[in-house]
This record gives sequence, structure tokens and C-alpha cells, in this order.
Amino acid sequence: MSLVKLLKRKTTKSLFTTPSHSGRFFIFSKFRQFYKYDISETDCYNPQDALKKAEEKASKIYGTKQTLFLTNGSSSGVICAVLSCTTKGDNVLIWNNSHPCHKNAVELAGCNPVFYNVDIDKKWGITNAVNPDIIEGYLKTNKIKAVIVTSPSYEGVVSDINSIKKLCKKYGAYLIVDEAHGALYPFFDELPESAVKVADFTIQSLHKTAGGLNPTALIHNNTDIDARVYLAKINTTSPSYPLLASIEANINFLNSARGKKIFNKLYLNLLDVKNSATCEIFAPDITKLNIKSSVYSGDELSELLYEKYNIEDEKTNRVSTMLLCGIGTDSCKLKRLKKVLSSIK
Ligand SMILES: Cc1ncc(COP(=O)(O)O)c(C=O)c1O
Repeated sequence: MSLVKLLKRKTTKSLFTTPSHSGRFFIFSKFRQFYKYDISETDCYNPQDALKKAEEKASKIYGTKQTLFLTNGSSSGVICAVLSCTTKGDNVLIWNNSHPCHKNAVELAGCNPVFYNVDIDKKWGITNAVNPDIIEGYLKTNKIKAVIVTSPSYEGVVSDINSIKKLCKKYGAYLIVDEAHGALYPFFDELPESAVKVADFTIQSLHKTAGGLNPTALIHNNTDIDARVYLAKINTTSPSYPLLASIEANINFLNSARGKKIFNKLYLNLLDVKNSATCEIFAPDITKLNIKSSVYSGDELSELLYEKYNIEDEKTNRVSTMLLCGIGTDSCKLKRLKKVLSSIK
């Protein structure tokens, strides 16, 4: 039975188990429904079995060897991946400006970080794609056990994962791709290629662009290592089943005709915004609109959007600012954005 269906079942038992709210004592009444679905491992309907089945189904959908649901974000997925494929004392190649969870993962695994650099695109003030030659340079001269690449970047720049994977294979290193910002990629051809079927481990945040609740995420594994063993070392023994069920529903939605229809509408609206803008827009992944003005600096543009147009951006640098969109960005919001961006030079 699916996790979602299992949670909808009403128990006829008198519960003398955790959680002590028993699904009917609502200290925070706004979350009534959440309490009702908040069962624990001791529930008689065996939610662990439903979770395992949901993860196996997800693995089939993504075409991976193993896909696991995460309720502590991509951060926990990166830690799990590094713990899974390294042993104490190994060298792990990481970007010197990566998300803090990369360095934390290496530290927690007792490994040594080796840092590589990624160039900045001066025109947009954002990082370029990772250069495979730079990765090969490190693989040649250091004994590297695992390489972590962030792709896409925060701003939607995607690296050549196929080439980097070939290099990792040649030098006997695992490839971990932090695809936190690319959770929509496996489902829609209009977006860049996902790493899920290519890398050894790929980690995605469903909560960033794919409409998931904070902090739902996924780890995809194509090795013969059972990542579940390593996830158990950092996970609680009392997972949130409402969050886990939301992951199952999230994947089913993205994989459905309804998901495709909603994405197609979003895609066309975003193209329309991009094509009618009077300022410059760079969107290597159309859900990340990097905006640049010929009049304002990135910071000034960000301030103008915020103060005059009531628009909050996701990230700003000296020259450009980025607006993050995703599966939940509705037509109404984009219609307004189109009007604003076709009035800024
Ligand atoms: C590139 C990248 N990797 C990993 C993370 C961590 O993701 P989460 O918040 O899902 O733990 C983030 C969060 O901003 C991120 O931007």
C-alpha cells in the first residue's frame, strides 16, 4: 500500500504508543491534519514497509539502482553519499565555494578535503560550469576517492556530468552530484539533463524548485553500496511520515500528466517573460531568471525590484540578480513579472 493511502487509514486501536498526541490531541491546532497523519514506527500498519515500497517505486521512476527519501534536506543526502563511498583518511575533491554541507560531509567521514576552483563569468557575476580538465588535473595528481560537483549551480548553470563521470571512472573515483536545484530535471525535456542516471550519487531538494515541503529531498544511488545503512547513521529513528508521504505524492505528481501540463504552462509563461523583457535575461535553466540591467548594478536592481515592485529575488551579486521559479510559480505572478521586466532597461 502507498504511504499516502496508509496514512489515510483510521486506526481502530486504542493507542498506547508514541507519539503521545495519538493523532487527536492538538496542542498547535493549525496543524490538526498534520497531527492526524503523524504516526510512528510502532503503528500497526507497518509504515516502514510502505516506505520501502514507495522508495522502490521511486527508483523505478528515476531509473536508478536505489532512491531514498530524505526529510533533512539535500544536506543530509550529501553527508550520506560521502559516508557511503569513503573510508577515514580518503581524499575527497570539493569546490572551494560549495554549500557548507560538502565540507561538513568530508569532515564527518574523517576524510581530507581537496579543493578545486570554479571560474566566475564576469558578465553575470555567477559561477561558470565546472571545467572537466581541472577535475582531471586533481584526479591525476592526488589519490581522490570521491568528487563532489554542484550542478546546476544556484543560478542554473549545468556542468558536463557525462565527461566528469568518465574521468571519475578512469581514475577510480566516485562521482557525487549535488543537484539540489535540479529536482525537476528528470521529468521535463525542456530542462537540462539530470545526473540521476549518470552519477554514482545524485542529491536533489524537492523543496527548492519541485514544489515540495521544507526540507524534503532525495538521494539517488547507482552503486552497489546500500546507502540506507549510512543514512541510518545520521537519521532519526522517528521519521516524519507526513513528510515522507508528501515525497511520495510529490514524485507521483511530477511523473503525472497533470504535472506535465502544469510544467508546460510554466515553461511557456517563463519563455514569454524572457522574450518580452527589456532588460537582459540569462536562463540556462529557464526556472532561474538571471537578470541584468544596463542602468543599474545587481544590488540596485535588487533594491528597485523590492522597493518599487514588491518583488523579492533569491540571490544577488554585483552585476545581476536571480529570480527563482519552480513548479508552484503561477501564471498570475509571472504575468506581473512580465510587465515589470518589460519596463526595466
Ligand atoms: C547547491 C546546494 N546544495 C545543497 C543545499 C542544501 O540543501 P537543503 O537545504 O535541502 O539541505 C543547498 C541549499 O541551499 C544548495 O544551494
